[in-house]
Amino acid sequence: MKKPIVSLAVAAGLLVSTAPAAIYAKPLAVQSQVKHPGFDHKVVNNLNVENTYNHIRYLSQTPRVAGTPDEENAVRYVKEQFESYGYKTEIQEFTFIGYTPPSKIELKVAGFDNLKPDSFTYSVNGDINGELVLAGLGTKEELAGKDLTGKIALIERGSISFGEKVINASEAGAAGVIIYNNAEGSLNGTLGEMDKRYVPVLSLSKAEGEALAAVVKKGGVTANLKIEGADAGERTSHNVIATKPATNKNKAKDGAILMGAHHDSVPGAPGANDDASGTASVLELARVFKDIPTDTELRFITFGAEELGLLGSEHYVSTLTQEEARKIIGYFNMDMVGSKDAGDLSIKTVDGNPNIVSQLSQASSKRLNGLPTPLEEGGRSDHVPFFEAGIPSASFIHTPTEPWYHTPEDTLDKISKEKLLDVAEIVGTAVYSLAHPDNQGPKTVKTPKAAKPQDRHEQNIK
Ligand code: BES
Ligand code: ZN
Repeated sequence: MKKPIVSLAVAAGLLVSTAPAAIYAKPLAVQSQVKHPGFDHKVVNNLNVENTYNHIRYLSQTPRVAGTPDEENAVRYVKEQFESYGYKTEIQEFTFIGYTPPSKIELKVAGFDNLKPDSFTYSVNGDINGELVLAGLGTKEELAGKDLTGKIALIERGSISFGEKVINASEAGAAGVIIYNNAEGSLNGTLGEMDKRYVPVLSLSKAEGEALAAVVKKGGVTANLKIEGADAGERTSHNVIATKPATNKNKAKDGAILMGAHHDSVPGAPGANDDASGTASVLELARVFKDIPTDTELRFITFGAEELGLLGSEHYVSTLTQEEARKIIGYFNMDMVGSKDAGDLSIKTVDGNPNIVSQLSQASSKRLNGLPTPLEEGGRSDHVPFFEAGIPSASFIHTPTEPWYHTPEDTLDKISKEKLLDVAEIVGTAVYSLAHPDNQGPKTVKTPKAAKPQDRHEQNIK
């Protein structure tokens, strides 16, 4: 069955300009004086960006790596906030194979005092003493008929994957592996996935590896290779889901509008912008919508393990029955929505084409800011699995990205309240334009007359 609500939206001419346009920042002081048309004020007047900011303050105290106690703490916080607003909240658990890097690595070779080895993701622990042997590129052909039992294979990078090199050496009997770079710089790679055949493996730079190889060629060189504290295995991450049923059951329309963000971060990054900003915005929107009647179901979701490959949103979408997926009118994703140091706001759809989410958002940004937020093509976040399931979705992000992206500097002091408020207003009013009581559907959501940005500016000054 087709989604009539979407085709209606297109038929109703919701399309607004997708031409890039600069959005000027609105001073907070000006915000409260601005009159918002119709239903918008219900959302705009209730948003309090101090709440959003305080959620980011709490969440960005530590990195929130999926599968760690820090993620669990964030999940508990999000759940408690949703429940404090009165929402029925569900925690959806899912598992994935994760890896904790080693706490200690060591490589000792007589005559080489200053080796600086690195580790590979998915390498196993070990403490090996063995003779070093040259093993070329570590291909099956090169190792055919060789007995490396108990030895440490010295292998050059190139031709096949790191994981294949380790498996080939291990199958020839090697107790350990060293892979050295074939280009300048350190080598810090991944074996790709967990594998029972792996033996401990460390990396060296090109210069270190070549110097070692020149000595090993002559024979009789032994090494001690140590890896401690690495741990590959099953981990648990979580999605947190708060549901607001349609207020008036008699008028309820058979649809749900979803808003979401990811609560996890990359290791070492407090993720104030990526994506405590989105998570905090979801919480503040949930608080605002709690007391606003809607004829459409609303769902607020924070996803886990986005940084590991959109795992939480993929899991969520995979659990939907066909009927449940069909019920979802659209998904609004907020990922990196508050950086002072990033560029202007943009709306990303996976294929770059407008859909009901981008159209409603462009219409609301035009009402609020005088110009529609530009629509661009872009994936890399939790709107992708929804798109792949045929559910209209879009992601909000400021581009270009701030220099602190995925670094320890992604902290609260880099957050702009103006930017946070702008996105929450756009998403909140877009959602409400569709969900508000007695809305007969997207047909009634008209693209407002194009207001020039200076009109609103003049109005504010008066
Ligand atoms: N928030 C980012 C996505 C992003 C960053 C989009 C910069 C556009 C510009 C997200 O959390 C992320 O880092 N995603 C991963 C991809 C994912 C599939 C692991 C990325 O982009 O590397
Ligand atoms: Zn992100």
